[in-house]
Amino acid sequence: MIELSNVHKTFGPNRVLRGVNLTIPKATSMVIIGGSGTGKSVALKCVLGLVTPDSGTITLDGQDVTQGDRDAFLARFGMLFQGGALFDSLPVWQNVAFRLLRGSLKRPKDEAREIAVEKLRRVGLKPDVADKFPAELSGGMQKRVGLARAIAAEPEIIFFDEPTTGLDPIMSGVINELIREIVVEMGATAMTITHDMTSVRAIADNVAMLHDGVIKWTGPVADMDASGDPYLDQFIHGRAEGPIEAVR
Ligand SMILES: Nc1ncnc2c1ncn2[C@@H]1O[C@H](COP(=O)(O)OP(=O)(O)OP(=O)(O)O)[C@@H](O)[C@H]1O
Ligand SMILES: [Mg+2]
Repeated sequence: MIELSNVHKTFGPNRVLRGVNLTIPKATSMVIIGGSGTGKSVALKCVLGLVTPDSGTITLDGQDVTQGDRDAFLARFGMLFQGGALFDSLPVWQNVAFRLLRGSLKRPKDEAREIAVEKLRRVGLKPDVADKFPAELSGGMQKRVGLARAIAAEPEIIFFDEPTTGLDPIMSGVINELIREIVVEMGATAMTITHDMTSVRAIADNVAMLHDGVIKWTGPVADMDASGDPYLDQFIHGRAEGPIEAVR
């Protein structure tokens, strides 16, 4: 469904993506792993068109993502940003229902609010959170509001950038299950970035490891442990020693 082909992206002297090739089949869950600063978030933003690649192609259903109607394209996506990216000046429920309050997905206000409260419940937040402002919430609660917003319009394709970072183990489990449900029950296509190996095993159909600007290894999650790839092994076991240098 989503295909990146030989994607390059450089920021000044920093050659971040150096020929990324990646295929994500429809209604599957792809998890991207890799060291901090390797370009995982940049790759995701390239697909959404928030960052423009220097070269290479990205297609969705065979169509180049840079061609055609941007609004129609983005309407198919939900996105959880790594930093949350909530609107400080809006109460939680209006953050969650953001897309349901405007544009082509617009619903009556009370209906949008009801959906927001239901999505908040799905991420383990009580209805009274709906009227708070983002600054009144803990970091983990903000993360979950971001998640609720990503799923609110029930998009076909959802990108999660670090969905469980900063959450306690139980809440991480709830979020992992939610992501799995969205893929299995709703048939969504998901692309998740995470450093959390428990999360990788819980949500991935396929895994791809980004290192030195390319996908070093990709395959079904079941093949991850016996890959024989020294980079992947070092990463999944969290070893300080190995081919990946700790200072980057
Ligand atoms: N808009 C930008 N302008 C300049 N450099 C950028 C920009 N966005 C990202 N970078 C650089 O690209 C590299 C990859 O960043 P990216 O955010 O994709 O890392 P990441 O793999 O998501 O890391 P982490 O696991 O820490 O989130 C970094 O060196 C970063 O400084
Ligand atoms: Mg990142």
